[in-house]
Amino acid sequence: MKIMIAEPLATEGVEALKEYATGAGLELVIDQVYGQKPGELLQNIVEYDALIVRSGTKVTAEVIEAGKELKVIGRAGTGVDNIDLEAATQHGVLVVNAPTANCRAAAEHAIALMFALARQVPRADASMRQGKWNRKQFIGVQIDGKVLGLVGLGRVGSEVTRRARGLGMTVLAYDPYLSAERARGLGVTLASLDQVLQQADFVSLHTPLTEGTRGLIGPHEFDQMKPSAYLINCARGPVIDETALLQALEEGKIAGAGLDVFAQEPPSNSALLNNEQVVLTPHLGASTEEAQVEVALEIARDVFDGLTAKPVRHAINAPMISAEVLEALVPFMDLSERLGNLAIQIAGQHIGRVHVVYGGRLAEHDLTPLKAAIIKGLLEPISEERVNQVNANLVAQRRGLVLVEEKRPHVGVEQFRNLITLRIGEGDNIREVSGTVRWGQPILVSINEYWINLELNGYMLICTNEDRPGMIGQVGTMLGRENVNVSFMQVGRDKPLGHAVMAIGLDQAPPEALLNDIGNVKDIHSVQLVKI
Ligand code: NAD
Ligand code: MLT
Repeated sequence: MKIMIAEPLATEGVEALKEYATGAGLELVIDQVYGQKPGELLQNIVEYDALIVRSGTKVTAEVIEAGKELKVIGRAGTGVDNIDLEAATQHGVLVVNAPTANCRAAAEHAIALMFALARQVPRADASMRQGKWNRKQFIGVQIDGKVLGLVGLGRVGSEVTRRARGLGMTVLAYDPYLSAERARGLGVTLASLDQVLQQADFVSLHTPLTEGTRGLIGPHEFDQMKPSAYLINCARGPVIDETALLQALEEGKIAGAGLDVFAQEPPSNSALLNNEQVVLTPHLGASTEEAQVEVALEIARDVFDGLTAKPVRHAINAPMISAEVLEALVPFMDLSERLGNLAIQIAGQHIGRVHVVYGGRLAEHDLTPLKAAIIKGLLEPISEERVNQVNANLVAQRRGLVLVEEKRPHVGVEQFRNLITLRIGEGDNIREVSGTVRWGQPILVSINEYWINLELNGYMLICTNEDRPGMIGQVGTMLGRENVNVSFMQVGRDKPLGHAVMAIGLDQAPPEALLNDIGNVKDIHSVQLVKI
């Protein structure tokens, strides 16, 4: 077996790999090849069974394709945004990461930046090195008694919370996907993003980089912040619109920023580098001796287990089901994941409890793989943490997500042999989706109790409206005017001229303004774009 380590990894990790191999009686070659150019990595990867990287190596589809022997990619750290996961999955390459080992280091770094900003440490240090003794210029602000606003309350956000509360801060957080119970347990009040930005003296970002968080902090968000507030980013650079940040600093909309991560690394934005209100560090969040040793040990264990086909702790993309169960359940796993994916998008709120009903012959099986697929569908759009058969329950547990499962051997609706229903929310806020498998395809058959019949795939516009003549035509014309092609349209209603739901399949995402215009059409109550 050959492992390439493409970026510095603590010796403890390398030694652990050797020990595991000796213990298993396997021959192992470990090559530490640092600083390769993309072309060199492409050439060199050919003969390796595993590749271990940090955040500085782009593991592209080409690299994965070139790695003919590649079985495992180990990310020695949390974020997997430098690895083409889709390509890895398509090529059957297991991706593992080390998500728990460096979250305390990252949290400490966020706190370090907060102090550096509050007490102007870097500027005072630079001033003294110029031979000055200027005590009046560097009056700081106190941390005790201030409000810390977190955006993202996962592993790192939770660790920041513990420290901030110990410093006498009040913690507010915006995390639309976290249960109120979990937040309460941490002593944090959940609030909207605007409320967090308006009330916080320090705002610290701790979301993954996803399509939903790219540019999350832009001009509108800076307008909400206090002129005395500081922004800290130890998550991922592109979460902040850097041009808007510079403008906000220049116009005095915020007092300063502490940045560990950048849209481009190393950063190319010289205006940011020259701005005195910004404290900068070169992606050091995880760079403590302790975290690096823990990360190296954590990744060594999973890379070796992955190579020797043992269950891994932090698999990002691995389905692990026995062949027989697989055969019966594969189409329903796909359906379950898509239903979860749709449910979280239409719920758009904290998910604490999800009620799942498995109806029909399906209910005779052990449905653990379906539960994992539902959790994967529910969490994948909102977390960097990929969920699979190995870690689904653990992830759900950690996030306070409870799946209440019910098996009903009889569906109760004649035309379906099998039916899976997901119900999210409480009271007036319940969202419900049901689906089945027909000719091997996942089909959505009901949404919020309206019966429909459509493929769960691609972009879908979901409108609730009054059932009146001309509604379908109006929406169709508006989409056509903007050149948005409709692939299918389905309507469900409670009774003639009652309430209805329109589900419209689209070949591409319509512009935001068009969604607003459709939402303003008389008798349309809600419009939502989802992507399955
Ligand atoms: P996590 O998955 O445990 O937590 C992320 C949280 O963000 C989740 O609770 C999720 O619900 C929430 N979230 C998702 N979308 C959101 C949105 N649109 N708005 C608000 N909240 C949203 O991840 P983590 O381990 O806590 O890591 C957080 C970030 O820190 C990641 O980007 C990770 O790559 C980064 N990180 C950086 C360093 C560093 O060296 N600077 C070190 C470790 C982690
Ligand atoms: C991470 O995602 O773990 C961090 O960005 C740290 C790193 O890889 O250096």
